[in-house]
Amino acid sequence: MTKLKECVFIDGVRTPNARAHNEKGWFKNVRPDELLSALYTAMFKRNPKVKPEDIEAVFIGTANPSGMQNDIGRLAWIATGLPLSVPSQTICNQCPSGMSATMDAARAIRTGEVDIILAGGVEDMEKVPMGANMDFPMRMFQYIKPEELPMGMTAEKVAEMYKISVDDMVNFAAHSNLNAAKARNEGKFKNEIIPVMGKKEDGTDFLVENDQWIRDKPDVAKMKTMESPFKQGGVVSAATSSPLTAGAALLLMMSREKADKLGLSYSYKYSFGTQAGNDPSVMGIGPIEAVKRLFAKTGLGPKDMGAIELNEAFASQSLAVIRELKLDNDNAPFKKVNTWGGAMALGHPLGESGARIIVTLLNRMKADYPKEKYGLATLCGGFGNANAVLIEKV
Ligand SMILES: CC(C)(COP(=O)(O)OP(=O)(O)OC[C@H]1O[C@@H](n2cnc3c(N)ncnc32)[C@H](O)[C@@H]1OP(=O)(O)O)[C@@H](O)C(=O)NCCC(=O)NCCS
Repeated sequence: MTKLKECVFIDGVRTPNARAHNEKGWFKNVRPDELLSALYTAMFKRNPKVKPEDIEAVFIGTANPSGMQNDIGRLAWIATGLPLSVPSQTICNQCPSGMSATMDAARAIRTGEVDIILAGGVEDMEKVPMGANMDFPMRMFQYIKPEELPMGMTAEKVAEMYKISVDDMVNFAAHSNLNAAKARNEGKFKNEIIPVMGKKEDGTDFLVENDQWIRDKPDVAKMKTMESPFKQGGVVSAATSSPLTAGAALLLMMSREKADKLGLSYSYKYSFGTQAGNDPSVMGIGPIEAVKRLFAKTGLGPKDMGAIELNEAFASQSLAVIRELKLDNDNAPFKKVNTWGGAMALGHPLGESGARIIVTLLNRMKADYPKEKYGLATLCGGFGNANAVLIEKV
């Protein structure tokens, strides 16, 4: 058995996240493959020592690989005019897709199969809507209830199970927005965001440099009165859900020896990753088991973590995960979790988010937790799939 190699993160970039809306969305005229192409191009520009032909694999996650997102990892690569000799593939396991792509990339590097990989995720939930082209195997409904599958319904069920109040969810969402606005204003996202040309609501072209959804002054009183679009008399509203979004994220990962050979610098390596399945009707609590497995297998715990990135699909599931795992305070504001905001403010382009939170985790660790050894990123996914990734300072 050959010794495992170390996999280091060389760079991470993302597009701004825009509303997935055919009138109001800043990327209404931009295809998801174009978002990905912007990142492929930017990555080589930022890292001139890495040539496109040196890339040995490209793994891209998307939650709905149909229509414009059908094998988007490969087709966007070809459409960017990059070398056809580089293999590229598209990976799908719903929201964790971008994180699964990153984990697969790290595993391939660690086993020595390849030395340089690009991994990431992309989604445009307006051009390829959530659940579009879905054709369920009806046999599965012997085991799970179809009416419990919609994402909003799962968030409602988690709120009920864990007795998460509307006040706590709204407080959580408001802090997510305040944190994101502060991070944006302080220029924290400058290192990760690659601006992309888009369109304003009135149709004028402009360079999109920031995430569209962030609310600088969340109206807490209004948020508390917003009704559930998912369930009559429910408690989860648009204000406490992640919005429909479009965006892409990309990471450049390498074996440590290759990075040293190319004279590239790095600060963090992929340390460990876990996945867990759970009941799809409460898919949002999936990270509880994924992170428990990660802690059990590494002997680490919440106290050992610096920054924690938890994808905020909904406020209810986020709070349930934070409280069950004792990742932070019981209520926002938090010390470790999503201190630059989360999906409730930054958006959640399904297959992108798993890669996006690793990109942000790397930047948060470097900027705000320079002495800490470990950082954690975790997210839930439709149909009951959750992933967790541990990064480690080198
Ligand atoms: C909740 C949801 C149904 C709302 O969708 P929608 O009806 O298209 O609505 P929008 O997101 O455009 O928001 C509706 C309105 O509420 C407003 N609103 C949303 N959050 C708000 C807040 N915090 N404060 C004030 N107003 C808010 C919006 O501004 C919007 O009005 P506008 O278009 O005039 O700006 C949709 O965002 C959704 O399905 N989210 C979950 C996505 C999901 O399941 N992801 C997977 C998770 S695993």
